[in-house]
Amino acid sequence: MLNYKLHFAKKISSLLAGIEAQDIMAWMEYPANSDQGDLSLPCFRLSKTLSKSPQAIAEELKAALEVEHIDHLEAVSGYLNIYLNKSMFVETLIRHISHSGERYGSQNLGQGKTVVIDYSSPNIAKPFHVGHLRSTVIGNAIYQIHTFLGYRCVGINHLGDWGTQFGKLIVAYQLWGSKEAVNERAIDELLELYVKFHDEAEEDPTLEDQARSWFTKMEHGDQEALALWQWFVEISLAEFQKIYKLLGVQFDAYQGESFYNDKMEPVIQELKEKQLVEEDEGALLVRLDEFGMAPALMLKKDGSSLYHTRDLAAAVYRAEKYDFDKLIYVTDYAQNLHFQQLFKVVELMGYTWFSKLEHVAFGRVSIEGGSLSTRKGNVIRLENVLEQAVQKISDVIDARNPGLVNKAKVAEKVGIGAVIFNDLSANRIKDIDFSWEDALNFDGETGPYVQYTYARTCSVLKKAQLHERDEIHDIEIDGTCLQNTEAIAVVKMLYLFTERVEQAMVKLEPSIVSRYLIDLAQAFNRFYHACYILVDDKQVREARLALVKCVQTTLQNGMKLIGLQAPEEI
Ligand code: ARG
Repeated sequence: MLNYKLHFAKKISSLLAGIEAQDIMAWMEYPANSDQGDLSLPCFRLSKTLSKSPQAIAEELKAALEVEHIDHLEAVSGYLNIYLNKSMFVETLIRHISHSGERYGSQNLGQGKTVVIDYSSPNIAKPFHVGHLRSTVIGNAIYQIHTFLGYRCVGINHLGDWGTQFGKLIVAYQLWGSKEAVNERAIDELLELYVKFHDEAEEDPTLEDQARSWFTKMEHGDQEALALWQWFVEISLAEFQKIYKLLGVQFDAYQGESFYNDKMEPVIQELKEKQLVEEDEGALLVRLDEFGMAPALMLKKDGSSLYHTRDLAAAVYRAEKYDFDKLIYVTDYAQNLHFQQLFKVVELMGYTWFSKLEHVAFGRVSIEGGSLSTRKGNVIRLENVLEQAVQKISDVIDARNPGLVNKAKVAEKVGIGAVIFNDLSANRIKDIDFSWEDALNFDGETGPYVQYTYARTCSVLKKAQLHERDEIHDIEIDGTCLQNTEAIAVVKMLYLFTERVEQAMVKLEPSIVSRYLIDLAQAFNRFYHACYILVDDKQVREARLALVKCVQTTLQNGMKLIGLQAPEEI
């Protein structure tokens, strides 16, 4: 499909000496008001370089630009307004979407490049909370978007499966736990043991020493300690995997923090050789004062490693193993400092790939005003949130469409979709207050609204085939049949898909795709209400059906990018 901005920018650049097409492209706009053209170039920035008034430039361009693809041009108040040849635009776009199908919107931007994405990464023996959900959903979308644009992606789950907390858990388990209780209650039991440890340790500080010594045993490969740790990991993982299955998310590798146990020593050596670390009361740290940051702690005084140590070893390992173009970490903004420190240490070590490291930070989620943290006794389990969403959607379906076959499956797709979409509904850095009413509203800017619109396209197409026995001739249609305002608005939205997906990749901002889906769904619904589709006039009917088909394809492609399922009936 022709990229109109690029096409016109190149033509204009060839008419104006010394002005790059890339710049012109960046200045071009899609006017919100169609009276100002389909595309428009403000000529103000050209004025200085060309020593002419913006209006004079616009007029010159109007006279010189060739008319291919263009209906007419206008030079108004320093703007060059371009009016496309609409029927040609409609016909080429519909042909292009029909040919491309599930590839519509994709590009080959990432050929030969690898992107490593570190996301989800919950902590073993602790429940999966909404922050991990948001990391999972955003990380998965970033993964899908890059894949769609031709990158090779490696999705890594950097499980929190190592650290002093496991020493505590072992002590607690041996004192108060039982095999049966852990097997039966899984993470709930582990969390309770962990909480009990903290309560008891306030009274009896020797518990802390015992915990430390168990963790040291783990770090030295003690069989008994490792067997218990392994068991805790398996139990937790089994629960996490239930959630991943519900969300439809997969990873290429589970490489938790423990994966780096034998990879930290060489990195510490390297830090020493490069004279980047200093000892401070027995601990080892990298000072970052001159960069306005607190020091990054690399070893505690008992010699044990930390979150930082494992992340540094992980970064070095990934650089060697994957030779990445980008390494992306998806966590909430509470870890901003951690990643700033990490990236700085990598830079100080002299690795040029430090510039390829990106922290994709996101805001906090609270439910109906309340916090969702794992504070003592006050844990809202993510699984419960998902189950409730499915249940509530199931109730809505009972009321709207009681005869629906596969109701349970559909309710699952829509309920989960609502939660996923809610996480992507605003710029990622914004905090989200999750409200059941907003997230599940079929008429709001929600996952269910997008899914419902998709189902509507399916039902129109099905009806057309049943009653009219029409094949949908989506390849060759008469573009003059789709010239009314609502149809053109849909066509323009369809056209923007490719560009929006690319923006979402560049800005690492999946909400650009979710926003797009809402815009497209709204444009389509306006068209649907304004124009009866199955009219008698064959040419008009075929053209409208082809447009519906293109909306279906584009919604489906976009939904897949953000991990939303596409049910054909709701
Ligand atoms: N397990 C950490 C947490 O729950 C997130 C890990 C993120 N990834 C990383 N490489 N540090 O906060």
